[in-house]
Amino acid sequence: MRSKVTVVGSGNVGATTAQRLVDQQLADVVLVDILEGIPQGKALDLLEAGPVEGYDFQLTGTNDYGDTKDSDVVVITAGLPRKPGMSRDDLLLKNAGIVKQVTENIVRHSPECIIIVVSNPLDAMCQVAKSVSGFPRERLLGMAGILDSARFRTFIAQELNVSVENTHAFVLGGHGDTMVPLPRYSTVAGIPITELMPPDRVEALVQRTRDGGAEIVGLLKQGSAFYAPSASAVEMVEAILRDKKKILPCCVYLEGEYGVNDLYVGVPVKLGSRGAEEVIEITLSDPEKAQLQHSVDAVAELVKVLKENKILS
Ligand code: NAI
Ligand code: 2OP
Repeated sequence: MRSKVTVVGSGNVGATTAQRLVDQQLADVVLVDILEGIPQGKALDLLEAGPVEGYDFQLTGTNDYGDTKDSDVVVITAGLPRKPGMSRDDLLLKNAGIVKQVTENIVRHSPECIIIVVSNPLDAMCQVAKSVSGFPRERLLGMAGILDSARFRTFIAQELNVSVENTHAFVLGGHGDTMVPLPRYSTVAGIPITELMPPDRVEALVQRTRDGGAEIVGLLKQGSAFYAPSASAVEMVEAILRDKKKILPCCVYLEGEYGVNDLYVGVPVKLGSRGAEEVIEITLSDPEKAQLQHSVDAVAELVKVLKENKILS
């Protein structure tokens, strides 16, 4: 039987996610938005690409959550994107209201689905969706670490003039300015990059990774990145639908791991048909631990604001 994936938000990230899902032969897709006509138009356009691209999947655009019934996976991209000069955190309260309303509707129609949150600020939006849905952590996670790691991998490959396929990288922590790219765990053909380039170049690539989202926003002038983000979200969907047991950096609710409790933070996770099947704890040096704690504190600060505004209890 075919899988069913709902993508909420038919903007840049949502529409490209829908496109990648059918291009990669993964699932029937329902595209939902509050805007009338946009999800319907984009879904029909994508459907009509099927004969050329060679996919037979159903694509439905809708404003009615009834059409999302019994989805296997739901990707939430609804919300406002960053504009130049705007931090991810500026989006906090506005997007919290949107994610709350979206999650309520999703859970009503697909109580057994796995939710992947993309909307920013990512870690705080996961916290909102978890609180509204009451889902176990296995079935509610967020996408950011794959994107941040992909950026790091791109810069490493450029720097060393090697294939991106030879690169591996881990970026942990919150999806914000405090994210923690880990050079010791970032490798080319298994060799840590700390052995392949001088410390100042490592630091330059780390900083460019931290600024990766803002770099694209600065170039686009309107809106934020969507090609790499949608590719990253679809890697998570694929790992779940194909039960790949793939270890990927994902935003997950920590219950004591890394010394963190009751907070969504990016760490390595094993993704399979049950969602986040295992949180992988890697050994961190004292400076790495301190950086992760700094990032955790930044996420906790946002959660505090959500509590003060009675969005979280
Ligand atoms: P966009 O503006 O192109 O699309 C957002 C869509 O959400 C719009 O079509 C809008 O009508 C829809 N929407 C707004 N309120 C809604 C509601 N209540 N119900 C359903 N749909 C609603 O924005 P884009 O570029 O697609 O980004 C979407 C979100 O993803 C933003 O919050 C952005 O910051 C975030 N993002 C997160 C990344 C990550 O790494 N976690 C990476 C890239 C984007
Ligand atoms: C990014 O990193 C905006 O969070 C988004 O591109």
